[in-house]
Amino acid sequence: MSVDRVAVVTGANRGIGYEIVRQLSRSGCRVILTARDYAKADQAVRRLGDLGERAVPRQLDVTDPRSVERLAASIHADFGKIDILVNNAAIANDGEQRGIDADLELVHHAVETNLFGPWRLCQAFVPMMRQHNYGRIVNVSSGMGAFGDLAEGKGVEPGYSVSKTALNGLTAMLASELEGTNILVNAVCPGWVRTDMGGPSADLSVEDGADTPVWLALLPDGGPSGGLFRRRQRIPW
Ligand SMILES: NC(=O)c1ccc[n+]([C@@H]2O[C@H](COP(=O)([O-])OP(=O)(O)OC[C@H]3O[C@@H](n4cnc5c(N)ncnc54)[C@H](OP(=O)(O)O)[C@@H]3O)[C@@H](O)[C@H]2O)c1
Repeated sequence: MSVDRVAVVTGANRGIGYEIVRQLSRSGCRVILTARDYAKADQAVRRLGDLGERAVPRQLDVTDPRSVERLAASIHADFGKIDILVNNAAIANDGEQRGIDADLELVHHAVETNLFGPWRLCQAFVPMMRQHNYGRIVNVSSGMGAFGDLAEGKGVEPGYSVSKTALNGLTAMLASELEGTNILVNAVCPGWVRTDMGGPSADLSVEDGADTPVWLALLPDGGPSGGLFRRRQRIPW
């Protein structure tokens, strides 16, 4: 169905992002596997084996506007379109802290990566999506950014948590701005996943963690937009 879909995945050299690339490639997409270190993107494509034929390595640091511009220009030149954007790259850099004691330098850095990164990518790619009136934007968020969890004291990584809350806000705002188009914008909590970020005790494999992001990336026309999802179900912001 999605043989000619062109997808970009950020932070795809390891963890959930890598698995999203694998699943999208398997479903027939052409996938731009991006990493802030080009050599890691290249190695990750090689690790895909035969599926690597459907993937293309590219350098992308989501905090660097010039890197985003270069990527957008190369995709425009090579493919002429972008169908799917998975904003997966993120950092969780402030460990267990209370908001009142937060190191605001770390908060700033988290927001730069986890909010401004996805925002830059949307600004770079939505115009191309508009040209073809097709787009699926998946913002990989976290339950730790949901208002309910914050209010229950579960936002123990303050910069990470509020950056994801803001990413949820960006998701709702863009979905509303793009209402009436065939560009669907959603956020997803992958669950607690065994990666470098999630740690070895997490209950989900990367395959399970990537399932809902990939499902959102491949939504049919008329699918939902402006929601936060976990296990393919809408959950409260
Ligand atoms: N794992 C969980 O339990 C869990 C739970 C809820 C939500 N999430 C979300 O799921 C997504 C993926 O998480 P993960 O567990 O796979 O994390 P991970 O294993 O730590 O991988 C993070 C990826 O993001 C990349 N990255 C970080 N900063 C970047 C930048 N400035 N530009 C480009 N890439 C950058 C990293 O690249 P380098 O290799 O260069 O560092 C790496 O590829 C994140 O959005 C995370 O918040 C994860």
